[in-house]
Amino acid sequence: MKGSSSRHGLAILFIALQFTPYITLTSAYPPFHSQRNMEYIKSSCNTTTYPGLCYRSLSIYASKINTSPRLLVHTALNVTLRASKSTSRLMVKISRIHGLEPRVAAAMVDCIEVIGDSVDELQQSIGELGHISSSNFSLTMSDVQTWVSAALTDEDTCMDGFAGNNLNGYAKTMVRKRIVKIAHLTSNSLALINNYASTQGYYLH
Ligand SMILES: *[C@@H]1O[C@H](CO)[C@@H](O)[C@H](O)[C@H]1NC(C)=O
Ligand SMILES: *[C@@H]1O[C@H](CO)[C@@H](O)[C@H](O)[C@H]1NC(C)=O
Ligand SMILES: *[C@@H]1O[C@H](CO)[C@@H](O)[C@H](O)[C@H]1NC(C)=O
Repeated sequence: MKGSSSRHGLAILFIALQFTPYITLTSAYPPFHSQRNMEYIKSSCNTTTYPGLCYRSLSIYASKINTSPRLLVHTALNVTLRASKSTSRLMVKISRIHGLEPRVAAAMVDCIEVIGDSVDELQQSIGELGHISSSNFSLTMSDVQTWVSAALTDEDTCMDGFAGNNLNGYAKTMVRKRIVKIAHLTSNSLALINNYASTQGYYLH
């Protein structure tokens, strides 16, 4: 059994090695991110509170982001929005479990509501960012900063609701872990937004 799986591993490695030169030499095959694009993400993430998470969540979009601070912010917000929606769906499922302690069920319902608000705020930010122009750069960035800060406050409120609550085992761990993660993603997005805001509209691309 063990021998056969390591033979499998070798076969896969062998196939991968065979294809590597082909892929790297073919310009019509773009998923390999250039060093420059990766460095851009690394140095931008370096200014955030959770640089490891920032880099892990954004580096897969390196070729799309290129070196655009606007696309960097847009992508960070997209990633945060997606994680928030999926956490919200998970909480809705858990809240329907029968036999939840009433206090916990209530915390879950409150949390679903505030995370819903934060999803709206992230969506508004993404929407307005899509219409940014040189004439309203500061106005747009100020709105986006306000909304994303509000989203972060909502996520904190949700976490507070779970503090000291007696939601047992797997569900508690899952929900807490995910809320912490979206709060960290949001905090990182806000840092990237603040950096972009400080460019004063010099980079609209
Ligand atoms: C990240 O920051 C550290 C110190 O703050 C610095 O030494 C390092 O070179 C930076 N890395 C990048 C990629 O900017
Ligand atoms: C953000 O997400 C939307 C919807 O999924 C997508 O159309 C858009 O290309 C994404 N933008 C970036 C910069 O990733
Ligand atoms: C900024 O300007 C663009 C283009 O004129 C417009 O579509 C957008 O709604 C404006 N944004 C704000 C926040 O006023």
